[in-house]
Amino acid sequence: MTAHLSVRGDVAVLVPAAGLGVRLGPGGPKALRLLRGEPLLVHAVRRIAAAPSVGCIVVAAPADAVDDVAALLAPIAPVTVVPGGATRQGSVAAALAAVPAGFDIVLVHDAARALTPPDLVESVASAVRGGHGAVIPVLPVVDTVKRVDSDGVVLGTVDRSELRAVQTPQGFRRDVLAKAHEAALDDHTDDAGLAERIGIPVHTVPGAEAALKITRPFDLAIAHLLL
Ligand code: C5P
Repeated sequence: MTAHLSVRGDVAVLVPAAGLGVRLGPGGPKALRLLRGEPLLVHAVRRIAAAPSVGCIVVAAPADAVDDVAALLAPIAPVTVVPGGATRQGSVAAALAAVPAGFDIVLVHDAARALTPPDLVESVASAVRGGHGAVIPVLPVVDTVKRVDSDGVVLGTVDRSELRAVQTPQGFRRDVLAKAHEAALDDHTDDAGLAERIGIPVHTVPGAEAALKITRPFDLAIAHLLL
């Protein structure tokens, strides 16, 4: 399946994938680990591109892998690949700088959530379009959660009813994302956390089980089954 980006799409999606040590093939970093013979990044970009609202995709790759990553993604969808920064935050900033004027809704997506359904991209984008400055997809926490001390002794039980597990894509009005990143003091893996820090209310939408983060061999096995 080759996705053609919607010419009317008003959403840009940034995919920071410039972690150090990136090389193509298995055993490399998460974004390029193979799932059914294709890197996670390819699966992720294919699904992003299939969302009708998306008109622009920018991937941040390691400076020495920009050409390889561009060649990898070219058959999948029209994607801009830029050299990432020294930190994830720098990579998000570099990708944001490559988004053309006119895209006022910007999503930040983790390539490790390779099977994220296009519908979830649409639902996050639609909430931003509806007026929310920052939007995250969340799932309820199903396990009982306890706080423990360094000896493994339970300190207390956390009230699960107000806990949510956060997924990506995280969606923002473009000016909100730019301001949140400008104000950030340290490197952060949660862009919505940066928006919170500058006082932007973060809205939630229902996440999707298929948007699981594929990080451990068990997740890879689940992803195989889902495919
Ligand atoms: O290294 P870590 O797991 O925190 O990276 C999280 C994500 O940020 C990964 O997708 C990684 O490729 C990306 N990243 C980046 N630029 C960096 C460091 C990490 O795009 N300089």
